[in-house]
Amino acid sequence: MTKILIDCDPGHDDAIAILVAAKRCDLVGITTVHGNSSLENTTRNALAICTLAGLRVPVARGCAGPLVAGVTHAADIHGKSGLDGATLPVPDRAPVDAHAVDFILEQAERHKGELVLAVIGPQTNVATALRREPKLATWLKAITIMGGSTTIGNITPAAEFNIYADPEAAAVVYASGVPIWMVGYNVTRETGFRQDEIERLRQGRGRTAAVIADLMQFYLDGQRRVFGLDIAPMHDVCAIFPFVQPDLISHVEAAVEIELAGRHTRGMTVCDLRNKRATGTGVIRDARAPNARVAVKADARRLIASVIDTVLTYP
Ligand code: RIB
Ligand code: CA
Repeated sequence: MTKILIDCDPGHDDAIAILVAAKRCDLVGITTVHGNSSLENTTRNALAICTLAGLRVPVARGCAGPLVAGVTHAADIHGKSGLDGATLPVPDRAPVDAHAVDFILEQAERHKGELVLAVIGPQTNVATALRREPKLATWLKAITIMGGSTTIGNITPAAEFNIYADPEAAAVVYASGVPIWMVGYNVTRETGFRQDEIERLRQGRGRTAAVIADLMQFYLDGQRRVFGLDIAPMHDVCAIFPFVQPDLISHVEAAVEIELAGRHTRGMTVCDLRNKRATGTGVIRDARAPNARVAVKADARRLIASVIDTVLTYP
């Protein structure tokens, strides 16, 4: 099983990513970051999901805001608490004393060459860790990112939320040289729970599946209201699947750059999918070397069925 550390901002889809990783990977820890809601809320939500599912994974609090700009939250989708829609248990423990940045560095050094960092919120913690200790880039096996898009955005027409919420941090991560797996909104907006699949969660006997069904219903209602989408998108879960069932998502190698200055495009991931072979032509700008495997397609129904099967194994 792949050793994985999840850096997240729970968040309805983050919550499912934690449940999948805890069963299908060797989940060594969870770090929290600002994003869907305040750091206080995302940390409490991570601990509440662990309490609900009986997970004893360490949780470390991280950065409360981005490197440069102000915070951007997503209460319109995830609610005031960041995880509205169900009665969640009071967390049965506190976060560990270590800051998320120190926790990431400590775990990466301990599991040199083995650890995959799943970055499924704004990338502030990871960028800060890379800046503090550049050796992190050689310690990590890979970084798997939910972020960006090869087509449309969700928080703006051009930008996906995680990148938009801290584009300077994303620029640090994409320039780090760590092998990157990226799944963007172009794929994740089509990969989620349908209404009938939420009902399947309710057929389970476990408390966890019942609470997750309530959360997914809230999340689906929000997607219908805000985007006219008829699925509860499993954005973050798609970042885990290259290390769970790799055949369910197809990727292409591409050069990805982060737009920082565009008045209308700040936070956009500019993915070079031209598949340009000739270099040195001087006619059009030569392609930069690929720095990421970018998701272009997912088998949504099989992926969601696999997620449901996993959630139903919890008590
Ligand atoms: O744009 C989707 C991403 O933003 C997901 O990670 C979701 O949890 C939110 O953080
Ligand atoms: Ca997230």
